[in-house]
Amino acid sequence: MNEQERIAVLRAELHQHNYNYYVLNQPTISDQEFDALLRELTELEARHPELADPNSPTQRVGSDLSNEFETVLHVRPMLSLSNTYNKEEVRAYYERVREGLSGEPFEICCELKFDGLSISLHYEDGQLVRAVTRGDGVQGDDVTANVRTIRSIPLQLNPAGGWPRVFEIRGEILMPWTSFEALNREREAREEPLFANPRNAASGTLKSKQTATVAERHLDAYLYYLLGDELPADGHYENLMAARSWGFKISDAMHKVQTLEEIYAFIDYWDQERRNLPVATDGIVLKVNSQRQQRTLGMTAKSPRWAIAYKFQAEQQSTILREVTFQVGRTGTVTPVANMDPVQLSGTIVRRATLHNADFIAQLDLHLGDHVLVEKGGEIIPKIVAVDEAFLTGERGPRVEFIQRCPECGTPLVRNEEEAAWYCPNDAGCPPQIKGRIEHFVSRRAMNIDSLGPETIEDFYNRGLIHNVADLYDLTVDQLSGRSDSRIRSARKAIQAIEDSRQVPFERVLFALGIRFVGESIAKILARSFRDIDTLSRARLDDFLQINGIGQAIAESVINWFGDMNNIFLIERLRSHGLQLALSEKQLASQSDRLAGKTIVISGVFQRHSRDEYKALIEQHGGKNTGSISAKTSFVLAGSGMGPAKLEKAQKLGISIVDEDSFLEMIGE
Ligand code: IVH
Repeated sequence: MNEQERIAVLRAELHQHNYNYYVLNQPTISDQEFDALLRELTELEARHPELADPNSPTQRVGSDLSNEFETVLHVRPMLSLSNTYNKEEVRAYYERVREGLSGEPFEICCELKFDGLSISLHYEDGQLVRAVTRGDGVQGDDVTANVRTIRSIPLQLNPAGGWPRVFEIRGEILMPWTSFEALNREREAREEPLFANPRNAASGTLKSKQTATVAERHLDAYLYYLLGDELPADGHYENLMAARSWGFKISDAMHKVQTLEEIYAFIDYWDQERRNLPVATDGIVLKVNSQRQQRTLGMTAKSPRWAIAYKFQAEQQSTILREVTFQVGRTGTVTPVANMDPVQLSGTIVRRATLHNADFIAQLDLHLGDHVLVEKGGEIIPKIVAVDEAFLTGERGPRVEFIQRCPECGTPLVRNEEEAAWYCPNDAGCPPQIKGRIEHFVSRRAMNIDSLGPETIEDFYNRGLIHNVADLYDLTVDQLSGRSDSRIRSARKAIQAIEDSRQVPFERVLFALGIRFVGESIAKILARSFRDIDTLSRARLDDFLQINGIGQAIAESVINWFGDMNNIFLIERLRSHGLQLALSEKQLASQSDRLAGKTIVISGVFQRHSRDEYKALIEQHGGKNTGSISAKTSFVLAGSGMGPAKLEKAQKLGISIVDEDSFLEMIGE
């Protein structure tokens, strides 16, 4: 792969990871892995200025906007910190600061880096008036009502006074480990999806529409940055000490130092000691203490020059590999799983770890009974990173071999050229694939038949009641309840949910079918382009390739799926049960080509619709929404408070600015 191709691959991967993290709240890689990819891309782009792209993942800081809250502009933009991973980089920061201050003496404030979500709190006359999430750094969600339920955040400051009349304070909202574990235990009992880590749990909670839910979940908050025109001191540390006296929760782990050795000592101490903290931390933050000196140093486009984050290495532990089992997923992919002696890692007990695929096992040269190093980067699935060589002395157990037949149905496994994964081709007869497809079909974002959890599906399947998703629509209350009175209510509820799913719009039905590569957004594109399932089923490769966003792999997967007679029968049964297999009249009517071929950037804050609604409207009318302005932009849909940099860029490129009302007129609303 040459560097140009590598840039394209990295951009695609990072876009996906951004989406997983910021939109779905379900990261699949650790922050460290993400940062490593981003760094590689940044370096490659620096070497290839001719390949610059305003939409590259290096050009943005991410967003957590959601449409349920009012979007508000930050009074001062919320910058992020640049990350470092080793002491050499910390030394470089220290030297840069020394040079930037021309040899003047300076103090560094060392702090913990809390791993939650950042929040900006505004106080006036001693009262909390507004709480805003980071969002994209320029604007965020107003979550004041939810934040008011967090007990460690003062609603009214200490009457003894001393606080400025108007100020802002920023910090981190966190879910303590104990609350996190209790919450996941409850969710497990209710068959609800688990939160990957306390950060996601805190973020999901803060975006909840019900403040009561927030209150129940026991969030906590540490504050670490005071801003305003009339602060008590020049020193950052001194300001936070004052804020502590006003009633804010300020971490005890703050320490002012002068030398690099003291900084290293702080790092080493907390790298160990953080395991005993009630909340998650992922590093330490170093800040030049004097605000006057901070101003001298200034900032780059994204982060201040006076501060830096040092990220801890993901925690590793050594334990013994006892057994390797093999899991078959809904698409037939076989994943090897290591079963190990339990070991305490980053706040939870770990017994299982993924081994990814056959190549990975071979690379590790893994034997049963080996001591292995397990790592968890704050994410759901821990992984084995190496065999612990310290124990490689005596005899080893048998080498771990990948299986050749499906552990569930005995079918010989196959593997596609160029793919690492082995899979079971028996999609019609292999139980976990059948059950997995049904689980996917009923899931919330698909048909939303949420009263049927995995255990219920397992039970129905074992009782021979369901073999495919169409069978769900033949179920009766008697079958579900087993004629037991105590189960009749839940059985009725399930049948009602199945009934209701007949109204689920076509694009979600398409997503629910579980066709390989057809995720939510691809399903939307396909539904809009082909309008009904019969047209889609007859489409040829060329028809697909004309559509923006549909490539060869997706096209082939869809064509293959409809090439299987079993699937054609399945569709006919779903049709006879009344599912939506075409866009509705209403969807068709609201759809137009008025914005066909137009690439539109959204900027600012709006009155009539939320940003997400505008995104949907653009798509509905055949347009394309992108993140930043380039020569390809057709126009900017601008609300109030569009940033000056964006405005200048648009003017320079001669791109027109369209306000909310003109836009709505344009699409005939
Ligand atoms: S100071 C301009 N201090 O890390 C400085 N941030 O990438 C602004 N964080 O978004 C941040 N602990 O959410 C600061 N002690 C700490 C922090 C901290 C965690 C988070 C914060 C920020 C991110 C920086």
